[in-house]
Amino acid sequence: MFFLGLVVCPGSGETAALPEILLESGDSMFNVKKMLAAGALCLVAAVGLAGCGGGQDAASSSGSKVLKVGASVDFAPFEFQDEGQSEYQGFDMDLIRAIGKEMGYEVEISNIGFDGLIPALQAKNVDVLISGVTINDERKQNVDFSDPYYESGLTIVVREDEQAIKTFEDLKGKKIAVQIGTTSAKEAKKIEGAEVKELNTPADCFMELKNGGVDAVVNDRPVNDYYIHTSGQTGVKTLPERLTSEDYGIAVAKGNTELVGKINAALKKLKENGEYDKIFAKWFGTQK
Ligand code: ARG
Repeated sequence: MFFLGLVVCPGSGETAALPEILLESGDSMFNVKKMLAAGALCLVAAVGLAGCGGGQDAASSSGSKVLKVGASVDFAPFEFQDEGQSEYQGFDMDLIRAIGKEMGYEVEISNIGFDGLIPALQAKNVDVLISGVTINDERKQNVDFSDPYYESGLTIVVREDEQAIKTFEDLKGKKIAVQIGTTSAKEAKKIEGAEVKELNTPADCFMELKNGGVDAVVNDRPVNDYYIHTSGQTGVKTLPERLTSEDYGIAVAKGNTELVGKINAALKKLKENGEYDKIFAKWFGTQK
């Protein structure tokens, strides 16, 4: 004679149907077997449950998917950190958080030096880069880019009393500081007779300029403008001429078309629903 017994696994709240052979009650051997069977089932159930939640290494404790973002947090107003504040802030930071939210991902941002960003992406330490990264053919050989999300370009910063440097032409034979690994570094190296100092951050470049170690800094226009106008720095000025026109893009590992597709769809949505404009106005005012 058979019956189906219900075994309740202690603590798991799960129940499992257990086929059992009914023997005379009071048979002690049967009770041992029954206990063993119940234990085995609990084990199976526990492993099964663990299996459901596991296997997604990019899952956070709250269960949502995680987008691992790399940024060189040294580039106000795109990515920077105010003293005493733990959160990274800036246009890029707000934008990628909004994109992540749109995609249903939790965003986790790591601060990585600019020249280490593409290697970090290639090593799969991060899923995307947002860091005022200019889209260009050289980089396209190593990474894929989203649609452009910001139009930028390079300008010059000099000391306030500088008379000799008014345009890029005037940088010939001069000492120039640039952030390492940037388009500014690439452009500055093309200038005839220029001595180019590649430093870790734009802040280091500005410091070098103020200290008289270089004659000029070449760097992205919005960052130069923010440094001088918003941070209220004195003793330096930015020149109006723009050397290049550059588009910023979000970079993903080469061939990750699925992720680029998701990012572009989210970006499009944010442009349509006014969220992009809100973030833009927060950091740059209303004029484009
Ligand atoms: N747009 C320039 C480039 O792509 C500079 C970017 C620097 N970004 C930064 N977060 N420091 O080379």
